[in-house]
Amino acid sequence: MDGNGRWAQTRGLPRTEGHRAGEHSLFEVVETCDDLGVEWLTVFAFSTENWKRPKDEVSFLINFNEEILIRRRDELHEKNVRVRFVGRRDWRVPKRLIRRMDETLELTQDNTGLTFTIAFNYGGRAEIVDAVRKIVADGTPADKITEKTIARRLYDPEMPDPDLVIRTSGENRISNFLLWELAYSELLFTDTPWPEFGRQSFIDAIHEFQSRDRRFGGVASTG
Ligand code: FPP
Repeated sequence: MDGNGRWAQTRGLPRTEGHRAGEHSLFEVVETCDDLGVEWLTVFAFSTENWKRPKDEVSFLINFNEEILIRRRDELHEKNVRVRFVGRRDWRVPKRLIRRMDETLELTQDNTGLTFTIAFNYGGRAEIVDAVRKIVADGTPADKITEKTIARRLYDPEMPDPDLVIRTSGENRISNFLLWELAYSELLFTDTPWPEFGRQSFIDAIHEFQSRDRRFGGVASTG
């Protein structure tokens, strides 16, 4: 969900207003997933690197995430959305926010619609490191380690590898998002800043995805 800050700055607004506009775009995308039958949506809400931002913005983002969970969880629950979280629950994440996450998780855990995963204090490398720590703690012998051994110890082993990864706002990088999971994902980079993304751009992105030829290392199917 990149470009919130710049979107606001070009309008002479504080960066935080860009994050507020980003919430609108995010919930349009959630609703569109629901309409189209998309089963899994994962968003990068706060990275392990975002702690480096100015203190004021970090505390805004933490409070904002908490506030969204409080304001929106009943609506998500009514829409049959199952909310999950991936990321490190370390000392930097306030206990308050962890409580809100757990409450939201519990409230929506039996829902059968869209699985909406929020990556908070998430880093792809940290996720792999944490998986390796679990493997070592489990005492798994080195010659028994396969790709499945790692995949099963990621933050949410049930989360399928993403079909499509969208990055907004003209940045052509992965920036530590789902490093293990996106090995064969289609990548789509767009100049549109996140606050302007919303329903139509998401539908356009899905059309673009449908035109891609996915071979997973094999050869093109001849139909
Ligand atoms: C990147 O824009 C966006 C973020 C760091 C946070 C976006 C968060 C939300 C919209 C809230 C999500 C919350 C929940 C609970 C799902 P940026 O500030 O990096 O923009 P810039 O690249 O223009 O600086």
